[in-house]
Amino acid sequence: MKGVVLAGGTGSRLFPLTKITNKHLLPIYDKPMIYYPIRTLVDAGIRDILIVTGGRNAGDFLRLLANGKEFGLTHLDFTYQEGEGGIADALGLAEHFADGSKLCVILGDNLIEGSIREAADEFRRQERGAKILLKQVSDAERFGVAEIQDGRIVTIEEKPLRPKSNYAVTGIYMYDETVFDKIRTLVPSRRGELEITDVNNAYIREGAMTFHHLEGWWTDAGTFDSLLRASNLVAQSVRGAVEEPAALQASK
Ligand code: DAU
Repeated sequence: MKGVVLAGGTGSRLFPLTKITNKHLLPIYDKPMIYYPIRTLVDAGIRDILIVTGGRNAGDFLRLLANGKEFGLTHLDFTYQEGEGGIADALGLAEHFADGSKLCVILGDNLIEGSIREAADEFRRQERGAKILLKQVSDAERFGVAEIQDGRIVTIEEKPLRPKSNYAVTGIYMYDETVFDKIRTLVPSRRGELEITDVNNAYIREGAMTFHHLEGWWTDAGTFDSLLRASNLVAQSVRGAVEEPAALQASK
């Protein structure tokens, strides 16, 4: 399975932080934001990654990530999204890179505490279709929200005013090669974008969507509040990892 990090868009909700740089190059605690989704893919055993970016600072990604050796990648590819046509529009640019392989797609502003390895291994064994990762949240209206009946997702609503559940659809998606045919059938939503939720609903209608509950914390980082939250969560995790062994030593 190959990996795709979507790091296009204008980051308008973070203006003026994003006036002279790309959102995904902003710091989250001690690393640039894009490091985290790349690490999530690498941790799931993915070594062949495409970065989709855009805007005026696209060249900075190449300088930062170079050939991906730092992450242990065998191959790092880059492509450029013109404009801000939406998440599904950005993913459409990955067709040549995918070359018929399954894809694990992650939004460049999504950070997780744990691992997606188990879900990725399940999807490697899944014959066809798609898989998404869900997380229970208290502010579901900010996200795509899954309605589940009898253990199956029946529909996903994008940022509903009155969410039918508290299961947010995280920005981590696994797709078979039919994703590109589905993207070609999309029309822009009211916000003028090709929506990833429409792609996911197409898989649900085919009865080909599975899901996995994500363990540990999950956050996006596309607003001032979530950017701060992301840094605090990472800082706590890093300190926890340093302090825990020290505390163990001290108790010996
Ligand atoms: O974070 C999870 C949520 O992400 C999902 O629950 C929603 O269903 C999904 O639509 C998305 O919602 P947002 O409105 O928060 O997405 P946003 O426009 O902030 O874009 C998230 C990332 O996607 C961004 O960091 C880079 C990438 N992107 C976005 C757009 C609009 C692109 O690469 N190109 C784009 O044109």
